[in-house]
Amino acid sequence: MNSTHLHFSAFRGRRLHLGVCGSVAAYKVCDLLRGWVRDGISTSATLTDGARQFVTPLSFAALGALPVYGRLDDATEAPADEIFAHLEPGQRAQAMIIAPASADALSRLANGAASDMLSAQALAFSGPLVIAPAMNPRMWAHPAVRANVAILQERGAMLVRPGCGATACGDMGEGRLADLREIHVAALRALAPQDMAGLRVMITLGPTREVWDGVRYWTNPSSGRMGASLAVAAWLRGARVDAVCGPGAPWLPQGICRHDVVSARDMLAAAEAVWDAADMGVFTAAVADFSPVSAGPEKFKKEGAADGFSVRFTANPDILKTLAARRSRGQRIMGFAAETAADLAACVRRKLASKGADMIVGNNVNQQGAGFGAPDNTVLVLDRNGREERWPARSKADIAWDLCTWLLSL
Ligand code: C5P
Repeated sequence: MNSTHLHFSAFRGRRLHLGVCGSVAAYKVCDLLRGWVRDGISTSATLTDGARQFVTPLSFAALGALPVYGRLDDATEAPADEIFAHLEPGQRAQAMIIAPASADALSRLANGAASDMLSAQALAFSGPLVIAPAMNPRMWAHPAVRANVAILQERGAMLVRPGCGATACGDMGEGRLADLREIHVAALRALAPQDMAGLRVMITLGPTREVWDGVRYWTNPSSGRMGASLAVAAWLRGARVDAVCGPGAPWLPQGICRHDVVSARDMLAAAEAVWDAADMGVFTAAVADFSPVSAGPEKFKKEGAADGFSVRFTANPDILKTLAARRSRGQRIMGFAAETAADLAACVRRKLASKGADMIVGNNVNQQGAGFGAPDNTVLVLDRNGREERWPARSKADIAWDLCTWLLSL
């Protein structure tokens, strides 16, 4: 799974409680647990009796869940700290996630039941609650289930909607456990500081593709990872994000408004459409500076060009410059500079002035382990107040997190 843009060190030391209910999908959350544990998030877990029919507490303990709580009645003859196990996540975890959440668990939660360990723990928990239901599509469509979900949402629970498709029982429809990436980021969002809440951020990312004939185009190797990391970081921190994505840009959570485009001109049009409402613009896209003059909609045949041929290029609009020239209401702008020149600092300084940005993030794309396509980056950051910092190689996700903090400080 090419998802390094979904893993941030900022969550190291945070604490999550995972509730697992009876569902064929229960085995899938083992992967979620691994992801959170890998990111340094301490995760405890409770498996309902139903869940224990599908997966074992030992699997969760082995993957790093600590503790894995037992049944409510296990506590009757236990030492004092275990007697109060139903209160523990409420005192220690900063968010609770129930995945998969069964119809029965939703009913118990909506009604305030405390008849089993997970329900009692949820009742004694006042932090953010995320529910990711999974069940047969007819059960999911039933008004009783919908009413329970509505009650929980009204009380502030965040819903990760089930996905569509074939369920284990063979029925088709909405009811499958959501894409694990959606559940992963929903938990992160519940844990994240909401310091970008109320802000609308527009981000361009990925390459652009400039079509030449019916089968060929001009582009660059940008993976869109840096921009995707910025989009996810801002969204986790509460921003409303519009991501204008070039071809092949990474997966983004449904909560981010994604606008897929192909060419530089498409990207400008999509960015212009959301720019007026944005508070911040982040321009990470590796926009093609030139487009080949079209050879028409058919495939250009080599028979007519045995000795080679020339292609004429025309300049594309500069999206950052165009939107910076039109900014209002103190809109803040972060630009990027992908350079190959030895003197990165001079290039980045020039770009800060010429582009009309508030800050520029420069990187040398020829450097080993950084730049286009790599999971890590080494950057030089400059802002309009004269602050200048060189950051050593780190994951693009972690750089994105700190760039959001910098942008907020301007
Ligand atoms: O001039 P240069 O391409 O190096 O500038 C890089 C910055 O400008 C990046 O933030 C990039 O997204 C943006 N840019 C743009 N439209 C272009 C070229 C670059 O928005 N046509």
